[in-house]
Amino acid sequence: MYTCVRAIVACLAVSGGGWLGTPARAANTPLPPTTRQVVLAKDGAGHYAWSLVQAPLPRVGDHQVLLHVHAVALQHGELELLESLNKSTDTERDRSGQIVCSDAAGEVAAIGRQVTSTHVGARVTSLYFADYLEGPLTPAKQAQGHGYGINGVLGDYVLLEDTGIAPMPGGMSYEEAATLPTAALTAWMATVGSNLVPRGGTVLVEGTGGISWFALQISSAYGARVIVTSSSDEKLERARSYGAHDGINYKSVPAWGERVLELTDGRGADVVVDIGGKSTMPQSLKSLAYGGTLSLVGGLGGYGADIPAIELIRKAARAQGIYAGSRADYLRMTKFFEALHLHPLVDHTYPLEDYPTALKDLAAGNFMGKLVIRL
Ligand SMILES: NC(=O)c1ccc[n+]([C@@H]2O[C@H](COP(=O)([O-])OP(=O)(O)OC[C@H]3O[C@@H](n4cnc5c(N)ncnc54)[C@H](OP(=O)(O)O)[C@@H]3O)[C@@H](O)[C@H]2O)c1
Repeated sequence: MYTCVRAIVACLAVSGGGWLGTPARAANTPLPPTTRQVVLAKDGAGHYAWSLVQAPLPRVGDHQVLLHVHAVALQHGELELLESLNKSTDTERDRSGQIVCSDAAGEVAAIGRQVTSTHVGARVTSLYFADYLEGPLTPAKQAQGHGYGINGVLGDYVLLEDTGIAPMPGGMSYEEAATLPTAALTAWMATVGSNLVPRGGTVLVEGTGGISWFALQISSAYGARVIVTSSSDEKLERARSYGAHDGINYKSVPAWGERVLELTDGRGADVVVDIGGKSTMPQSLKSLAYGGTLSLVGGLGGYGADIPAIELIRKAARAQGIYAGSRADYLRMTKFFEALHLHPLVDHTYPLEDYPTALKDLAAGNFMGKLVIRL
């Protein structure tokens, strides 16, 4: 079965990015003996924080690749992981030394003896899951999230399974491509990638951060009418210049669900991309059209939201949890980006040593699209 799965990967890889097996195993230029990495480390009070360390270059296993990382995109999830680890009373698993972040773009610097799906010098991105090729997610695959369940990607050189990478789309910089693995894929699966958006339908996107901006870009490129909510009128103006048809300030219009109904002649949105969880659920449900889909993506206002069944029943609507996606989903998405010449919005980049500023900016939310660390 495993052999069969690996054959599928090789097949997908060749059709998706023209990868070829090669006898080359390591870059012509010698690899350094050590690498910089940002890892989880406990401070004196036992709280986890990020720490920049120097570590020996890891040995490449048979089915692994060594990625020379050029860019890493940040997720709100990095903050949520730190918060949950520092709140947790579970002391069983010490995460000290775990490399942070999930989304990198770079060049393959070395490959294991059994790797046939990529080659040294290939331009690739990491994937959120290390071994989720296609089909439904399982607990075992779900446990293998880069930077969450297992080692992540924020370092000059990182080790990844050959199933945990995919070719970079053509025409993108490393900084742009690094934004795709989690935020773009989640937005894709919450909208067009799961066939949820009828042609000419309406998509409601909450906020203007990573997932939300991609949901705007993907849905509007697909031809949907997109309504965006934001805490900032200035960001709403910018969202309009990127294809949003309407904007609602969720601070000055707390009952924004009503406004969505007004803007759609009482119909509501065919897809609502919910990132707020507890804080947005009532207005998200209000905004949803009959027969529509509530794509549950995030919990910026807390994950403990109640979804009143009667609202969904009355509207014959559905709610669907989205957790990034598979490698096959990712390849379909990158084809969409390539075909439509779409480019991610990188709001700001930072050198690696400025990672504390990048984390602070992520928490402050004064950006649109993505924040990226350059290496
Ligand atoms: N399911 C998955 O696979 C998956 C993957 C990645 C992330 N997530 C989760 O999705 C959520 C968003 O992640 P992200 O990386 O896109 O975040 P982000 O880039 O940090 O963006 C957050 C933005 O959300 C908006 N926002 C904050 N609170 C809001 C609220 N109450 N109502 C509406 N908008 C609000 C703000 O936009 P304005 O400044 O415009 O107001 C803020 O800039 C997080 O909870 C994250 O953990 C889920």
